[in-house]
Amino acid sequence: MRKTLLTLLISAALASGCTQGVETPALLPLPSQVSPHASTYTLRDGYGIDCQDAELNFIADYTSRMIHDLTGVSSSPDGKAGVRLTLTTDSLPTEGYRLRIGRKGIDIEAASPAGIFYGVQTLRQLLPQQEASSCTLHGIDIQDSPRFGWRGLHLDVSRHFFTVDEIKRFIDVMAMYKFNRFHWHLTDDQGWRIEIVKYPELTRIGSVRARTLIGKDPGGEYDETCRYDETPHGGFYTQDEIRDVVEYAARRFITVIPEIEFPGHAVAALASYPWLSCTGEQYEVRQTWDIDDRVFCIGRDSTFRFIEGVLEEVVALFPSAYIHIGGDECPTDRWERCPRCRERMRAEGLSRPRQLQGYATTRIERFLRSHGRRLIGWDEILDSGVSQTAVVMSWRGTEGGIRAARRGNEVVMAPTTHCYFDYYQTADTAGEPLAWGGCLPLDKVYALNPCEGLDSVQRASVLGVQANLWTEYIPDFAQAQYMLLPRLGALAEVGWAPDRKDYAEFLPRLRRLTRLYDACGYVYAPHPLAD
Ligand code: ACM
Ligand code: ZN
Repeated sequence: MRKTLLTLLISAALASGCTQGVETPALLPLPSQVSPHASTYTLRDGYGIDCQDAELNFIADYTSRMIHDLTGVSSSPDGKAGVRLTLTTDSLPTEGYRLRIGRKGIDIEAASPAGIFYGVQTLRQLLPQQEASSCTLHGIDIQDSPRFGWRGLHLDVSRHFFTVDEIKRFIDVMAMYKFNRFHWHLTDDQGWRIEIVKYPELTRIGSVRARTLIGKDPGGEYDETCRYDETPHGGFYTQDEIRDVVEYAARRFITVIPEIEFPGHAVAALASYPWLSCTGEQYEVRQTWDIDDRVFCIGRDSTFRFIEGVLEEVVALFPSAYIHIGGDECPTDRWERCPRCRERMRAEGLSRPRQLQGYATTRIERFLRSHGRRLIGWDEILDSGVSQTAVVMSWRGTEGGIRAARRGNEVVMAPTTHCYFDYYQTADTAGEPLAWGGCLPLDKVYALNPCEGLDSVQRASVLGVQANLWTEYIPDFAQAQYMLLPRLGALAEVGWAPDRKDYAEFLPRLRRLTRLYDACGYVYAPHPLAD
């Protein structure tokens, strides 16, 4: 989007906190158009929330709770409308909204309930933090819509398990920044976390590892110097709990995208059902990190009956149009030695073992399509041949995404360079909790340009951006929040705001809004915010 004079003036004003003598509030992500003005509106105890559409009632309830929690001001069911939520038929983009605060109250208009919800999130940033019976808001006109339709956040619950309440708080953090895709990484070598009724051993056996490596993973060299905590780590979500989370997220306009890893990162599944592997050996759920060559056998038809049985239950639980099947880091060593896999190669006319992954992915994609869903996978799915309708999540840099967009696949950009929140937030790691490695400071997240290297046609294939939170070294929810915040604020701006980024202007806004972290009791890393 080109910078207009108005937006330039707004950017400068937001940095200084002042527009033509009228204080400009900190807003994040930065809306498309912001015009503060001199009027004020006072919201008092007993105000009403007016929404003509019954489908907005739950947003009205959410708004009332949010206003009360931040300001102390209470609404009343029959109070005079101080807040009006209105669905309009005029030309606002999907997810876009208009927010006006003037002498007559607070108006949020949108073409969709999602847009209304995003307007409410912006209102949240405009509210004073207090405990009182009234609060005064400054006049403002905002018109806003997101740059990208996919504003994602991933959470690995295999390496460390998080409770349903923690998952809901995670979703709340996403909602604050207008994220709309929760990528739930439910299966991996170290734990299977979703109940599958047809295959009960997945959770009976596969959800518990006997112990966990302490400290840094040596990367495959496991000897007597490695220490373990000697404590079982387990947990899984029942199907009722999954439905509860999906519903909770939907009420915050967040789609939950489940990830069921296939054909790699499979040890927990193979430990549950040994007949899924090339050798049929009995494995234990993995206790160390990194890549494992024990993967699903592609030669056995029973593997496909299994994964389709799993996915049948998955699609019944998750209304998401997209189902993530992983596809990353899948060694082919076992396939090379397996007579069944070699026979599959021969029967399918494949010359390289890697092509078995393409065969398997294409087969799963057909299955998902027959259930009306789209397959999404990590960028390795490109290496073995994949159809043009698969969506590619670019994590090994943006190159995979660029390659995919050029061949016409849709893409989500989530490169390690800018989006891996399991990396350290600072080069000075003394005093930081142990992290995977790498260094991803706040400004680097902010610098992501998801469309770099693409022409205007290819850019249309970029659905959006996503941060990934792998949890090998994140044992609890407090640390998960610490790794997310404030970096999630930077990615929120990349995913939502028009392409006119200015870090020097962004940082003071982010700092001013940490008051919301405090109000919600979120844990966050303070050092990226220091002068
Ligand atoms: C990945 O980080 N292995 C997708
Ligand atoms: Zn095999």
